[in-house]
Amino acid sequence: MPDETLPETPPETLPETTENDVTEVTEPESTVEALESVERSDSAAAKAAEHVLATVEPTVGVSKPDTILVADGVQRRFGGMTAVDVDHLEVQRGVITALIGPNGAGKTTFFNLLTGFDKPNQGSWSFEGKSLAGISAAKVARNGMVRTFQLTKALSRLTVLQNMQLAAMDNPGENLFASLVKPLWSGTEKRNAEKALEILSRFKLDAKKDDFAGSLSGGQRKLLEMARALMTDPTMIMLDEPMAGVNPALVQSLLGHIQALRDDGMTVLFVEHDMHAVRHISDWVVVMAEGRIVAEGPPAAVMQDQAVVDAYLGAHHDTDLGDDSLLDPAVLARLEAEEEKR
Ligand SMILES: Nc1ncnc2c1ncn2[C@@H]1O[C@H](COP(=O)(O)OP(=O)(O)O)[C@@H](O)[C@H]1O
Ligand SMILES: [Mg+2]
Repeated sequence: MPDETLPETPPETLPETTENDVTEVTEPESTVEALESVERSDSAAAKAAEHVLATVEPTVGVSKPDTILVADGVQRRFGGMTAVDVDHLEVQRGVITALIGPNGAGKTTFFNLLTGFDKPNQGSWSFEGKSLAGISAAKVARNGMVRTFQLTKALSRLTVLQNMQLAAMDNPGENLFASLVKPLWSGTEKRNAEKALEILSRFKLDAKKDDFAGSLSGGQRKLLEMARALMTDPTMIMLDEPMAGVNPALVQSLLGHIQALRDDGMTVLFVEHDMHAVRHISDWVVVMAEGRIVAEGPPAAVMQDQAVVDAYLGAHHDTDLGDDSLLDPAVLARLEAEEEKR
């Protein structure tokens, strides 16, 4: 063992758990069925979002009444290929914006640029009126804009609670493990632990606080990723494919949690392949194809737009939206793998 404080059982040998808290309720047969029973929130925040966005013209680059994030001329090239080429995009504060587009459209790269995990070849953007171009990821997060992260191998060896505490640390130093197991916590650490438990209980993960993060099911991992992001009290949260690998039983609750973030006053920008999810929870939809924004508008309008259908649905354009075939093949493969394990 390289480190005495590491748990003695490697997470890899632990069995995948099932989503106990949800499977007891009537379990949907498929992701599509699960999504069909998701209701649009009728919260005050949802209504306010709909009301204010109804005044915005659905055209690419349009100004928003209360912009929290604005990107200008952001380009990222890999070799001869331009992965991201966003002319102008404004994100409205306090609403759920979905970023959709085919595989390879540049969505993840765009997220990475905005959150300081990658550097553009050119362009500028600002968050809450403050320029963030060239700012480190940690500093971007401190400014209130966070993106969720997949559970890495290292993080899966920590417990759920340790993951949360780590997320709250500004500069997790070399004494990471020592600080996490230290019996006498400082005031800040104690407050962080309390906050972690409160967030975990919201996500029904409190009973798993001492389990290895690596032992969680696909859906629970996604919840933990969201929970970790909340440790920094973000103003805006960015979720990249929050439903990938999540079994149908947890889809509804996950979408409910995303809507709750908006209802709590946060701005949400999420990438999602599943059109049902996008239709059900987003207040505004932005479509990306080949690095560019090709359309934006309210969900119903955007999804009827022929240019969007061509760009996003491609060869499947006449496929019924209720069909699983619209799911990204990689996502579908993960869903099936998840299904097999159960
Ligand atoms: N680090 C990288 N090096 C080279 N090419 C990359 C890199 N990251 C992404 N790309 C390419 O950029 C394009 C956009 O990728 P990505 O942002 O992951 O798309 P999306 O998230 O929309 O599926 C793809 O063609 C991808 O292969
Ligand atoms: Mg991606």
